[in-house]
Amino acid sequence: MAELQKDKMTRTDFLALGVTGTIMGAIITVPAAAFLLEPVIDIGILGQTNVDEGWQEVGPVAEVMIEEPSVFIVEFPIDQIYGEQRVQEANPEDPRSTERFTLRNAVWLSWKAPIERQGRQGNQGNTIGTPEKPEFLNNKSEGFTPEEIRQVEEGINVLNNSCAHLGCPVRWITNVDGEGEFLCPCHGGIYDINGNWYGGPPPRGMYRYTQYEVRENGRLYVKHGFDIEEGIPGISETEPYVV
Ligand code: FES
Repeated sequence: MAELQKDKMTRTDFLALGVTGTIMGAIITVPAAAFLLEPVIDIGILGQTNVDEGWQEVGPVAEVMIEEPSVFIVEFPIDQIYGEQRVQEANPEDPRSTERFTLRNAVWLSWKAPIERQGRQGNQGNTIGTPEKPEFLNNKSEGFTPEEIRQVEEGINVLNNSCAHLGCPVRWITNVDGEGEFLCPCHGGIYDINGNWYGGPPPRGMYRYTQYEVRENGRLYVKHGFDIEEGIPGISETEPYVV
């Protein structure tokens, strides 16, 4: 009995054994688990995604009003990963396979408003004027000329609805005076109609789609990709929360 007690396990030994066991367990288990849990949708938050890179239709620009933005839902097809990366193909013999997997984005379109007084970001947002919608859209919704396409592309904001703070969906709120702003319900982030930061915790403005085009048919198309950038210098760094 005395011999046994001489070799008894101390608390330190016990803890060390536990740590060693945990490490060994992780070495054995993690690769297998990682294989099993390989993400079905492989989305990197820094703009590295497996979302389809093609053009997707957003909607008719003539429907976007002057006073407030319009929201459109866009479905971006996604490559699927099951052991190897591939795009899900429709199987004509299996009606359940006729749909591709998609990533839903809410896209806000608004007409750019001139900045009348530049605010100090991080303290006070910009003062903006009335948004400027190209006049020809009052009488025309399709059959655009190249010059009209250029006017629309230069005059429109194409924004994602994910708040630049922690990604909650923003919505357009109008007050009793008819003045509106994008408001984030999670922590009170505020953006103006251009998507610029106005107040609250977001470290920057709303994410913009970097590739969009207007076509002769009067509709706007986007590719999935955003203006990922650093936060406001000296105030905040940011990680993107758009997908
Ligand atoms: S997630 Fe929008 S303010 Fe925090």
